[in-house]
Amino acid sequence: MSELHEILGIRHPILLGAFGGLSSVALTAAVSEAGGLGAYGLYGYDGARIRSTAAALREATDKPFALNIWLPTGDEVPPGPQHAVFAQALEPFYEAVDVPVPPRPERYLPTLDEQLDAIWDAAPAALSVVYGVPSAELVEGAHRRGIRVIGTATTVAEAVALEAGGVDVVIASGAEAAGHRVSFLRAAEESLVGTFALVPQVADAVSIPVVAAGGVADRRGVAAALALGASGVQVGTAFLATQESAANDAHRAAIRATAADESVLTRAMSGRLARGARNRTVRAIEASGTIAPFPVQNWLTGRFRAAAGEQNLGELQSLWLGQAAPLAQFDTADEVFAELVAGV
Ligand SMILES: Cc1cc2nc3c(=O)[nH]c(=O)nc-3n(C[C@H](O)[C@H](O)[C@H](O)COP(=O)(O)O)c2cc1C
Repeated sequence: MSELHEILGIRHPILLGAFGGLSSVALTAAVSEAGGLGAYGLYGYDGARIRSTAAALREATDKPFALNIWLPTGDEVPPGPQHAVFAQALEPFYEAVDVPVPPRPERYLPTLDEQLDAIWDAAPAALSVVYGVPSAELVEGAHRRGIRVIGTATTVAEAVALEAGGVDVVIASGAEAAGHRVSFLRAAEESLVGTFALVPQVADAVSIPVVAAGGVADRRGVAAALALGASGVQVGTAFLATQESAANDAHRAAIRATAADESVLTRAMSGRLARGARNRTVRAIEASGTIAPFPVQNWLTGRFRAAAGEQNLGELQSLWLGQAAPLAQFDTADEVFAELVAGV
């Protein structure tokens, strides 16, 4: 049994990627039940929602799972007078889903302390974090409760910083990956290392287990990641395409229809760089030249994206997907899992 298996209490070195805003209890539980580490993204969740989600996860599985949060980076813009200007710029998208432009909220995001209080009560097997090195207090708080800490690196230097910060496992997330580029030492645009180059260099630089993320969608990707020195893989897009995920039909169809060279890195949807399909909304926001800083843009687009999601309007959603999207051909989480395990 490898160190990764022991640390996380798993039977197979397969981790489900967390999906902020799109995680589902069914998918998280399916991966944990299959012997991997299910994960649930808590981006934007307040304490009450974290508690009810954790209760639902416990109901669905008694196997280990991870909860995932975004660490505050300190440059998050609070609600202010500029909110209305940015809201105005997005009005056509609200009209398209027949929802009024929402008024300025008191806050865009819950505080880290509020999220951590609920996570400590939930006591998941692991807490995975993005956008930074967790504080010593966070790491100690987790370890005291028997919770493992997983950090996420997009460069070798970030992996080294995370190991020095006391995390137990590091995800090496290549630029192929779906969703946000969670770089924290340098700008995301300057931290675009591919998985194939990143994983062996991170494995050489740290002594904690390394998990490869980005572009792994079948047994070949798993075998390659392990050959490169990873102890396991984290898979997002391939699981997001399954029935158990919270993605709607439009998103699932986009995953199957977006070629490796068609996904783009864009700040249009959230104010931070993320990989997804270049749909009408991404093109229009990029062309407008107005993108509010994070988290203003994420909050503002989030309100019409949620309505679009319910109406299955892919052109108005954020269709996060990675470069391996065309390989995501399986309908159920168990099928994806069996395919990945075949590469171990
Ligand atoms: C819709 C979506 C949302 C995501 N949100 C998060 C998140 O909140 N936290 C996180 O650590 N990773 C997030 N990711 C990244 C995944 O967890 C995973 O690392 C990535 O999808 C792996 O690359 P792949 O898609 O090529 O398999 C997200 C990915 C997607 C597709």
